[in-house]
Amino acid sequence: MLLRRGALVVLAALALAAQVAAVRDPSFRVHAPTNAEHNHEKVQVYYYMESLCPDCAKFGAGALSDAVDELSDLMDLYVVAYGNERYNETTDKYTCQHGPEECYMNLVENCLDFYSNDDYRNYYPFFKCADEIAASVFPNVDGVSAKIMAKCGSTLPGNLTPQDLDACAKDSLGETLIAISKYNTDTLDPPHTYVPWVVVDKKPIHLTFNNISAIVCDEWSRLNDASPPAQCSQFFEASEAVEEAGVCYL
Ligand SMILES: *[C@@H]1O[C@H](CO)[C@@H](O)[C@H](O)[C@H]1NC(C)=O
Ligand SMILES: *[C@@H]1O[C@H](CO)[C@@H](O)[C@H](O)[C@H]1NC(C)=O
Repeated sequence: MLLRRGALVVLAALALAAQVAAVRDPSFRVHAPTNAEHNHEKVQVYYYMESLCPDCAKFGAGALSDAVDELSDLMDLYVVAYGNERYNETTDKYTCQHGPEECYMNLVENCLDFYSNDDYRNYYPFFKCADEIAASVFPNVDGVSAKIMAKCGSTLPGNLTPQDLDACAKDSLGETLIAISKYNTDTLDPPHTYVPWVVVDKKPIHLTFNNISAIVCDEWSRLNDASPPAQCSQFFEASEAVEEAGVCYL
């Protein structure tokens, strides 16, 4: 029995490795270290979200996208797509606040994170594209996942295709990945009470997430005992005027 179970685990691992090798492409990452990166510690940003929450889409296509464009030297970002999704142990099924298309897109985004080696420089363009499309159709999200898959393929890294993501979302790899994101979301301390839920160097920043760039700049400066780099000044100037946050509650 033990042997059999062990063999199954090995087989599953081999199948997974083959799947990964088929789409992982070492040329994804073309990035030389800059001055700010050299010998400096990066701020660790975790963004807990769900794919079709209007406020997540707004943040992902707006303030967070600006941070990604300007501050990638200063921060590491991990996007965890699960949010207020629920798992029912009796039925072994997941349900989502914004319907089955949200559950599907959460799977797709988990697959993309995985195939991108969890490097947001690889996966963020797709998230942004998806968020822009989602934000443009709210409140009617019917058919939005098909639209995103049809329109955002060109933003994917390397040779990755929407078909790869769809295949992953529909098989056990997707299931494994969403279970990991469920675990990472459920074990948040303190727990999240809404999304977007943004954690900067282990501290949730609650409703100030639209100020993310100024917060990252400040934290980087503190962490490295150094003045914030030049690209931060625009965010400090704008930080009094940041937009009020809306959220999707649990
Ligand atoms: C799980 O699903 C079962 C069967 O549909 C239902 O009776 C139960 O209330 C659900 N549990 C939760 C926690 O939603
Ligand atoms: C945004 O963050 C910066 C840096 O921490 C802070 O100085 C500023 O007051 C914040 N703005 C708002 C509106 O919270």
